[in-house]
Amino acid sequence: MAHHGHTHSHGDDHDHEMEMENEEELEAAHFSNVVATFRGYRAYSLSANGRRLKDFYGLSAEDQALLTELGYRRKIDVVDEKIEQNADFLRRVVGSPEIFSNTELGEGDREDEDEGNEGGDGDDGENGGGGEVPAADMSQHSSAQGPHQHGHPSEHQPAHGHAHGHSHTHSHDHPYDRIRRRRAPYQPSEFDIDKLRSTLKQLVRDWSAEGKAERDACYQPILEALVDHFREIPEDQRGNIRVLVPGAGLARLAYDVVLRGFACQGNEFSHYMLLSSFYILNRTERINQHTIYPYIHSFSNLPSTDALLKGIQIPDILPSTLPPGSNFSLVAGDFEEIYGSEEGVEGREPQAGLWNAVLTCFFIDTAKNVVNYLRIIHRVLAPGGIWINLGPLLWHYENSSEGDPSIELSLDEVKELARKIGFEIREERRIDTTYTGNVEGMLAYVYRTAFWTAIKI
Ligand SMILES: C[S@@+](CC[C@H](N)C(=O)[O-])C[C@H]1O[C@@H](n2cnc3c(N)ncnc32)[C@H](O)[C@@H]1O
Repeated sequence: MAHHGHTHSHGDDHDHEMEMENEEELEAAHFSNVVATFRGYRAYSLSANGRRLKDFYGLSAEDQALLTELGYRRKIDVVDEKIEQNADFLRRVVGSPEIFSNTELGEGDREDEDEGNEGGDGDDGENGGGGEVPAADMSQHSSAQGPHQHGHPSEHQPAHGHAHGHSHTHSHDHPYDRIRRRRAPYQPSEFDIDKLRSTLKQLVRDWSAEGKAERDACYQPILEALVDHFREIPEDQRGNIRVLVPGAGLARLAYDVVLRGFACQGNEFSHYMLLSSFYILNRTERINQHTIYPYIHSFSNLPSTDALLKGIQIPDILPSTLPPGSNFSLVAGDFEEIYGSEEGVEGREPQAGLWNAVLTCFFIDTAKNVVNYLRIIHRVLAPGGIWINLGPLLWHYENSSEGDPSIELSLDEVKELARKIGFEIREERRIDTTYTGNVEGMLAYVYRTAFWTAIKI
């Protein structure tokens, strides 16, 4: 989809403008719903846990007494306490959503309506006020999809809606304002809350000590291949090497690329991801500042109460400790729209040949049409540039309930397609890894991911 400004106001252009405004309103509504989901987590989750209490009180007095002796009754109460603490954290994440909407919000948008236990994990309150790191080129908006859920097959739900990358150059009020004025508070659905619960688990993957094993399995081989490919370039000149990470998630891989001295841009279209990574990257003052409880939402397959209630501290490093002069940006919007446009998105240079490396981790299977993804990766790379991939083929749009098209290739077919598009596949291997798994859980999904490096010829 092309990208348009708002410079005309008559004839066909007028119709077009109205259509674009409608799309912008849809995007703004989606963003507003995501913010409402962060704020609605508390009530939704307490109610879900309340079901357990109700079921408990439905039992005979004798059974209740037995379960109370086991600590089951108390456990339900403790989960309520942890929900409150998660809710405090999530409210802080969306404490300043105007950073994304380029607009001033009314008071009603800043605070949750329900009562919370502010600062429960020792944080200093909303927006901790840490130093800015140069990782917030939030110049694009999207009607973002939630995180692609590799965590569990039952969570594998097709995303819906369409993503856009318009820049907002017009002077009238922002669609977010209009949405806010018009609508009753959004009630998050199970689907929305599930994305939020996945976001908590992704925070473990990207920004906790507990996530290190998964990062070592997924990000380390990619980083090693990147460093190896550019081994001839002196370390102090790596800043001239431009690395793109599409589907950056919570941005740890992109961040680690910058830590190694490269210039790196992450791209992501999920507001759940963008809001959370912005908060961690730009609003963190100290290591282990926050404690979250990602495993309290399901009591299944847990060996102990401790495994259920386990608190995870984030972040494991201070993101603002990037060396001076680091070149790190995150661009919000749809990968195909931003990097696939031949003429360049408004206000941006065309992307063809601009990148020395493209890193895809658990990303290529988010395509509706993987041919287009591979073509874009090929086109944006400079001649001799490297594409490094690691991930499964859990085709995101397979059997989409929204009727989205989906092309689902086997691994052999993807590799053959890559060769036909103009890549020479160099290193290839399989890497076993979990994705946002609970290390203590009694159920673990292991992806036998495909890793490869490929050179643009
Ligand atoms: C499975 S997650 C992987 C995230 C991260 N790379 C990791 O390994 O943890 C895939 C990510 O790609 C994002 N994504 C999917 N399609 C996208 C698109 N067309 N443009 C930008 N981001 C996209 C999703 O929102 C999600 O965060």
